[in-house]
Amino acid sequence: MTDLFTKEPDLLSLSYDKVKAIAEKCQKCSLCKTRHKVVFGHGPVPCDIMLIGEAPGADEDEQGLPFVGRAGKLLTLILESVDIKRPTDIYIANTLKCRPPNNRAPQADEQAACWPYLEAQLHFIKPKILLLAGTPSVKRVLQINEPITKIRGQWFKLPNHENISVMPIFHPAYLLRNPQKTKGSPKWHTWQDMKEIKNALDYLKKVKELSSNG
Ligand code: URA
Ligand code: URA
Repeated sequence: MTDLFTKEPDLLSLSYDKVKAIAEKCQKCSLCKTRHKVVFGHGPVPCDIMLIGEAPGADEDEQGLPFVGRAGKLLTLILESVDIKRPTDIYIANTLKCRPPNNRAPQADEQAACWPYLEAQLHFIKPKILLLAGTPSVKRVLQINEPITKIRGQWFKLPNHENISVMPIFHPAYLLRNPQKTKGSPKWHTWQDMKEIKNALDYLKKVKELSSNG
């Protein structure tokens, strides 16, 4: 097995479009037998902010685009609440590019097989802010086992990518199952997190403007 942050020079030396084309024919794990479409990822390349979810569901598998089902529609609204528009302002991908049968949880071997694509995406997208939606994404990318209820809303650094600020957030599917908005609820926490994320984005924008003005 390769190490999580081992560079894959073969992929990183190619173009984004080429890597996407390779992923779309991928047969590195058994999910290729049941998928309809590979859901590589969607959004601007590069992009200051990127989100990594868990894995495609039925709607995503059908359309080949991430977060287009019920959870995806809620995600769109959550992002829009702080003026982050899809697909122009954020790049969205998943730890797995193919749908696990019946939406079962991603398996470690599938995530390992798929990791080089995500590593290549980080290389091409060059996000400054990385949102990890849900536990499988947090576990996989940050390699920590803390429950998401404890670490959401906190900033982390991505190992070997020290210039990327990472924030775990609740998965929108979890918010669909917990729709209350009262203080202290998952939705309330997500709203606080989104405001923090928006502040960080605005700060990045300001720094960019200042440096481009000499
Ligand atoms: N474990 C990891 O962390 N990454 C891999 O690619 C394989 C196993
Ligand atoms: N859930 C995810 O984690 N990703 C998607 O793309 C859709 C639903």
